[in-house]
Amino acid sequence: MAHNIQPLLNKAYLKAKSAQGVYITDENGKSYLDGSSGAVTCSVGHSHPKVLEAMRQQAGRLQFVYRSQFGSEEAERLATKLFSLSPGQAYAHTFFVNSGTEAIETAMKIALQYFLERGQPKKTQFISRWKSYHGITMGALSLSGHPLRRQRFESSLQKFPGLSANLEGDPTDKHEQELRDHIRRIGAENIAAFVAEPIVGAAGTALTPAPDYYPRMKAVCRDHDILFIADEVMTGLGRTGKWFGLDHWKESADIVAVGKSLGAGYAPIAATLMTDAVLEPIRKGTGLIMSGHTYSGHPLSCATALRVLEVVEEEHLLQNVNDQGDYLKANLQALQRRFPVIRHVRGKGLLLGVEFDPAQKGFQAKLIDRCFDNGLLVYPSVGGPEGKDENGILVTPPFNINRGQCDELLEKLVDSMANES
Ligand SMILES: Cc1ncc(COP(=O)(O)O)c(C=O)c1O
Repeated sequence: MAHNIQPLLNKAYLKAKSAQGVYITDENGKSYLDGSSGAVTCSVGHSHPKVLEAMRQQAGRLQFVYRSQFGSEEAERLATKLFSLSPGQAYAHTFFVNSGTEAIETAMKIALQYFLERGQPKKTQFISRWKSYHGITMGALSLSGHPLRRQRFESSLQKFPGLSANLEGDPTDKHEQELRDHIRRIGAENIAAFVAEPIVGAAGTALTPAPDYYPRMKAVCRDHDILFIADEVMTGLGRTGKWFGLDHWKESADIVAVGKSLGAGYAPIAATLMTDAVLEPIRKGTGLIMSGHTYSGHPLSCATALRVLEVVEEEHLLQNVNDQGDYLKANLQALQRRFPVIRHVRGKGLLLGVEFDPAQKGFQAKLIDRCFDNGLLVYPSVGGPEGKDENGILVTPPFNINRGQCDELLEKLVDSMANES
């Protein structure tokens, strides 16, 4: 009997024994190329010596202090780093949490508090999109337009997602009009924020809106005194080849959630970033953010995350994300000609999505298993206009993958495709 619960109760999961760079080794000594960075997380690969050394040093100095009793130099330095990386130094303040889901929950609470403390207590509704994933707790799942993850809990969730997905080639006019219609129907005086992933990950196989999408959607929000929350949990901190996904649109948000590439798999940490304009009414009002967790601002996690971000800079990994991302994308597009089952290849940097023909039911699951058998990890994703088709994969290796390893990834994928097509 297994005492440790994993998602599929009847599956016998292999145990991982060790990991190095872009490879994981299982209990039988078999090696896997981590083509998904776990859950799009291990940005600087596994067992990076600089990160391990920073963790060792920090563990010998200070591991934990409770956030309402002490601050720490480590949390301060990481928040300053995030500020310096943010577009136009817009994200002046950071609240640390432990997972992407918690960062979204905190973003929602900060938006609610912002209006409450400005004397607008009715602004409590959120607008989000179908084909989106924002996290697994009831609040974050309420925002998520992900039918497969909502279905068991639907009756306990709020019905926030209202906007349709940005499908391939959609004009922004359509989405801007939809946002305006929603605001008219609900009333701007009742809406706190619009929430969106810059590039839709698990719920959309790297769906990427048009170049004018975010500037125009944000302008509509601003005109109606509605905050814009960017869920950069997957896109943030280098995954798309820029520090923030919204940088591709030369746009910034009022509140931002980051996670995944922050701790890079070395330590649990995520964060909610906000502009000074968002924090100001709260600071001048009750002066208290009503959120947080026992482990918020954990010094060991903060020191680890800071070293991860320094490694991305020192080793010029954004450049590598762009170079290897372009190479992988071009090769995946070439595969589309060879395998008609591939319908779309999209994404930016090393956040790449491959969507398959939805008529080929079960293809995605079989392909992921075949890749696993061939020693390649890829991440499942959903497609289709409502996000119900389990027909996509994300190809998202660590930022420091090299050209030879990209070729190995492609070879293993082609081999697995050839066996499944
Ligand atoms: C865009 C996005 N937001 C939020 C989350 C939730 O993050 P976590 O699993 O760390 O709670 C995820 C996780 O996949 C995500 O992709």
